[in-house]
Parts: sequence; structure tokens; C-alpha cells
Amino acid sequence: MQRVLVAGTSGYIGRYTARAFKKRGWFVRVLVRDPEKLRHPGPFGEPALEGIVDEIVTGDATKPDTLHDITDGIDTVFSSMGLRSSKPGRTYRDVDYLGNVNILQEALHHDVQKFIYVSIFKADEMMEMQIVKAHEEFVQALRDSGIDYSILRPNAYFPDMTQFQKMAASGAIVWPGDGNLTINPIHGEDMASVCVDTAARGHQEINVGGPDVFSYKELFTLAFTTIGKDPRIIFIPLWIVKGIHTIIKPLNARIADMLYFAIAVNEIDNAAPRYGERHMKDFFEEFGGKRISEK
Ligand SMILES: NC(=O)c1ccc[n+]([C@@H]2O[C@H](COP(=O)([O-])OP(=O)(O)OC[C@H]3O[C@@H](n4cnc5c(N)ncnc54)[C@H](OP(=O)(O)O)[C@@H]3O)[C@@H](O)[C@H]2O)c1
Repeated sequence: MQRVLVAGTSGYIGRYTARAFKKRGWFVRVLVRDPEKLRHPGPFGEPALEGIVDEIVTGDATKPDTLHDITDGIDTVFSSMGLRSSKPGRTYRDVDYLGNVNILQEALHHDVQKFIYVSIFKADEMMEMQIVKAHEEFVQALRDSGIDYSILRPNAYFPDMTQFQKMAASGAIVWPGDGNLTINPIHGEDMASVCVDTAARGHQEINVGGPDVFSYKELFTLAFTTIGKDPRIIFIPLWIVKGIHTIIKPLNARIADMLYFAIAVNEIDNAAPRYGERHMKDFFEEFGGKRISEK
């Protein structure tokens, strides 16, 4: 039986991926900071994992002392471990780069055969963002380590799109640029399936998107219609956002990152190769629409 360690298991992709490995007959060990989280489903329908996975180990990726032997007897490590948003005291570099390096060192120590890592689509074009830079620094460490690796580069996940429904529910979506570039977000379960497929031997780097490609304008319209509202989208000229970014950049790295992202999605098309079978519209109706109408 093949044995995998899944890091980032309490998160959106980690939950689906741990379950997907299990469904394909693997022995699944998971690394979490708080095992209690695995008793309950995630906020967007991600599965509870207690009673599904074989072994739960507790550790903090940024504290190497807590990671001893997490990869003992393991063939493959999968990591979607990372910082969701930067907070004072913990940076993307600390968690996404150095935290994953700590896990990689354990993997090398125990002669793990393969390391699968989730980075970010078109990272090379967005290296100015701290989160992207930290992911890619780890990718480089992985390449340099000599271990067999797969790197997945998804463009966006379904839950992130529900922020547009929240804006729609509040009356209007305000967006820089003209909304004409495209994106195809992916559901966690579809992403997990691609992740497990890459466990086969051989270096792989795969760009991943979902089955439906939208312009941002079409996506925003869907966000409105799935909550029964007429679309109201306000576009801010990009030059204004760029001007604010230039002023903010030396003053506040976090806000500068957010502005840079807003500019990047208007200059870098985000349509990735299409995988999966779950649709954004169904997800909007199930999680966005339902929650908003229940309020
Ligand atoms: N969101 C997107 O649209 C998008 C697009 C492309 C790529 N990505 C990347 O895809 C990956 C997976 O995303 P996701 O949405 O599944 O992320 P997520 O839901 O935020 O999950 C992150 C996981 O990392 C764990 N973690 C954080 N710090 C840790 C630490 N110090 N030690 C151990 N575990 C720690 C979290 O555990 P706790 O529950 O304990 O915090 C959580 O299980 C991330 O690297 C993300 O940057 C995301």
C-alpha cells in the first residue's frame, strides 16, 4: 500500500486531497495544528476527516521540533500548507517558504520518493506579490533538493469567488479595469483529483483551472443572478489603481500586494487548462446564494 503525508489538511484543498488519496486506496497520514478541526466539515462543504484518514499527527510547520518523524514510512508528501492571509508576526516567507522547507527536510531525511506541492498559476508574472514569491522560493528549493516532485499551479478556487456574491448582495461590485480578461476557478474536489493523479513518478508542473471559463464581467453577472439581483458593476479606470499602488508600495506591503493583485488580474489573463466537472454556477447557488438569502 502506498503511503502519503498530507500537510495543510484542515484547509480547503488539503481536506479534499486527503480524502481523494484515501478513496484511491492509499494509507493517509495528515499533519494538522488542531486535530479538532477535522471533526467537522469545512465552511464550503469540504469533508470532515476524522474516521476517514488513517493517522493524524500534530505539528506546526514553522517549528521543526514539532515535525520529527512525520514522514517516517511515507512514500509521498503532498503539501497545500500555507498562510491564507498575512498577519503581524507570521509572513508568507515564514509559512509558505520556510514551513514547507521544514517539511521537505523531514521528507529528505526519511528518503520520501515524491513531494507534491501546490503553488500559483502564472507565478512567474506576479513575483512582486509576497505570497507568490514565497511559493516560488519553495518551488526552487524543491527543484534543488533532488527529490521527485510535482508542482500544481491552480488559478483560483470556488470559495474565493463568493466574495463577489457578498459584494453583489451589498448592492454593487466595484472592480478595476474593464472586466474583459478571463478566469476559470476550480472546485476543491476536482483539484484534489488532479493532485492525486500527479503522484505518479516523474517531475511534473501542471497549470490547473476549472471547466467553465468566464470573463470577470460574466462571473460578476453570475454572482448577481444566482442571488436574484440585477447586475450592477462599477469599473474603476486602471490608471487610478496603478497610481494608488505606486504611492502605497513603500508605505504598506500588505495593501500594496492587494492593489498589485487587482492590477495583475487586469493585465494577466487567468484562464488555465481546464479540468474537472463541477460548475461555478452550482457552487454559487449552493454556498453563496443560500447563505446570503438566509441572512
Ligand atoms: N485561494 C486560491 O484561489 C488559490 C489559488 C492558487 C493557489 N492557491 C494556493 O493553494 C494552496 C492551498 O490553498 P487552500 O485554499 O487549501 O488554503 P487554506 O484553506 O488556507 O489551507 C491552508 C492550510 O495550511 C495550514 N497551515 C497554515 N499554517 C500552518 C503551519 N504553521 N503549520 C501547519 N499547517 C499550517 C492551515 O492549517 P490551520 O487550519 O491550522 O490554519 C490549513 O490547513 C495554498 O498554498 C494557496 O496559496 C490558492
